[in-house]
Amino acid sequence: MRNRLGLIALVLWLVTAVGLGVLFVHGRTEKAPDGRTAILMSAAERDFVFTEMRGLLVAVRDITAALAEGDTVKVAAAAKAMGMGEAHDRAPALLAKLPLDFKRLAMTLHGGFDEMAEAAAKGETPAQLNTRLIAQLDRCTVCHAGFRIDVAQ
Ligand code: HEC
Repeated sequence: MRNRLGLIALVLWLVTAVGLGVLFVHGRTEKAPDGRTAILMSAAERDFVFTEMRGLLVAVRDITAALAEGDTVKVAAAAKAMGMGEAHDRAPALLAKLPLDFKRLAMTLHGGFDEMAEAAAKGETPAQLNTRLIAQLDRCTVCHAGFRIDVAQ
């Protein structure tokens, strides 16, 4: 009897562990008709993500303007504002819905902004910083091509 309980506990533990693992990798997703992976989240979570996205677009705009002026101090400030330290997507319930590839891309993007800020502080030229910005924009477009956000309760 005790053995059977132990076995049931082990099986339940395994099911939970595998379930959490699958959730960690896939998040809460389904295939969308346009071929992208739809991430399912509440309307409030979607608003939260979109607000951050619009902040990213403003940062890219500010970096481009600073590059046009050759002002690398401004480039560093605008990039730093979107770095790892400022990443806002930390709500645990939302994080669990994001697939691993999405989280990885988001982390690479925020890390790239930190690297851009450091490079600007170390004296990289506007042309070199612009090359970094293009690599960052590639991350935006890769993610937008692969994922979309659909509302589901
Ligand atoms: C890790 C994935 C990911 C990265 C990286 C990413 N985005 Fe997004 N973004 C999304 C998704 C998903 C949507 C929703 C698209 C949809 O539902 O069609 C979105 C939507 C947006 C929107 C629309 C917001 C609104 O209010 O409608 C803007 C603007 C945007 N992103 C800008 C950017 C910019 C600029 C970058 C790069 C600096 C970027 N994003 C990087 C995933 C990403």
